[in-house]
Amino acid sequence: MQEIKFYSGEKLPLEQHKARIVQKIYLVPIERRLEALYEGGFNTFQLNTKDVFLDMLTDSGTNAMSDNQLAAMMHADDAYAGSQSFIRLQKAVEDVLGKKYLLPVHQGRAAENLISVAYVKKGSLVPMNYHFTTAMAHITDKGGQIAELLYDEAYVVNSSHPFKGNMNIEKLEEVIIQKGAKNIPFIRMEASTNLIGGQPFSMQNLRDVRAIADKYQIRLVLDCSLLGENAFLILEREEEFKDSDMGTVIKAMTDLADLCYFSARKLSSSRGGGIATNSIEIYRELEALVPLYEGFLTYGGMSVREIEAMAVGLYETLDDSIIRQSPSFIKYLVEELDKKGIPVIKPAGVLGAHLDAMQICSHIPQSQYPAGSLAAALFLASGVRGMERGSMSNQRDEYGNETFADMELVRLAIPRRVFTLSQIKYVEDRVTWLYDNRELIGGLKFNYEPPVLRFFMGKLEPVNDWPQKLLAKFKEDFGDSL
Ligand code: F0G
Repeated sequence: MQEIKFYSGEKLPLEQHKARIVQKIYLVPIERRLEALYEGGFNTFQLNTKDVFLDMLTDSGTNAMSDNQLAAMMHADDAYAGSQSFIRLQKAVEDVLGKKYLLPVHQGRAAENLISVAYVKKGSLVPMNYHFTTAMAHITDKGGQIAELLYDEAYVVNSSHPFKGNMNIEKLEEVIIQKGAKNIPFIRMEASTNLIGGQPFSMQNLRDVRAIADKYQIRLVLDCSLLGENAFLILEREEEFKDSDMGTVIKAMTDLADLCYFSARKLSSSRGGGIATNSIEIYRELEALVPLYEGFLTYGGMSVREIEAMAVGLYETLDDSIIRQSPSFIKYLVEELDKKGIPVIKPAGVLGAHLDAMQICSHIPQSQYPAGSLAAALFLASGVRGMERGSMSNQRDEYGNETFADMELVRLAIPRRVFTLSQIKYVEDRVTWLYDNRELIGGLKFNYEPPVLRFFMGKLEPVNDWPQKLLAKFKEDFGDSL
């Protein structure tokens, strides 16, 4: 992998693409941003993009597509059954992920649903490096439970550990012995573990998990949604692979799993998903569920145009100059914030920069959602929309009690090839201002709390008039500036 050095010695993430289609965005005045927050119940999922300046909610379905992806969409083959677009996607999955059988689904969580319907029942336990919201919701929905088995280092914010997403191998074996292998339908490994700050696992760790899976004859399921980025960080950080390439690392990872599933909204910059395996038994176990829940086996709820874009996007995952763009912007932002002493998840991971609300808003109790509060305050201060990844995103336990998250994060997603470096510098500037004024940020409380995935639809309100005070301070410091 080649890094481009500047004569000045400065280390900047130089873009390896040019923009040919652009979309205008608007920075609305802070007074309007405050109104928008009240309309959206202080939940950034409920904001309307007309009020959002830089949309850093997610990279999901928002990565920039390539000219080749758009071109491919034009020769899609619209057919209910036997579409040539699906055949092309199957080939891409086989070439890139090394899996023969492909079951198409409309997005990642649909794959999680089918896998849970097929394998999880009451009393099942699914060990994983860490949960993702939708993966956990589908498992618990079918009566199963999860066990999160990271090493302690994963929860350390200011860390230099290269692989915080590693599964704790000793605990994995303990859990299997305790619960009994027959009650464990599969082990789930999530590439670039999302909720702890987009942190990768190492190839060695995946091999160790495979060895345990073999020993106890348990399926190994790999969530490949952020596979390209995990592979990229293996190339950068794992000695054994320093002279390797994306294709080799990706195949080495997928080879270790019995079943791979993915959200194509992340992997491949399109919209859709899939389940891939080389096992005809697994394929047969899941096959009938696709037409039942998703659509026929050659489209699975997706449009054929997206299927074409997905096939091209999968091949583009092999190009590290494409994959590196988002992680290198994230690294830049994380390092700049860190230099100023702003608590941010380190080392820089993938998907986004993650602010540590537990420290930044240490004056807000977890029962008042410090990460949700920080996300709302940042939107007010900048028009930048981040995502709460903390206790608001957790589900209550079976008795209705709050379960506080291990980490209270605000994720500032940096979708691939979407933002420019000056926009990233604007984020850095406004986060710095907010950090200097953090005492003005207050807590939130729910006034509408849905029972499932409450962070999507829930509505909250501030516990007092802190947003008005923050606005007043903004006006004092920035005058008429948006
Ligand atoms: N697995 C991981 C690791 C994910 O990050 C996501 C989605 C899914 C599964 C579910 O896929 O959205 O296509 O149904 N992550 C999005 C995010 C929502 O914003 O991080 P999906």
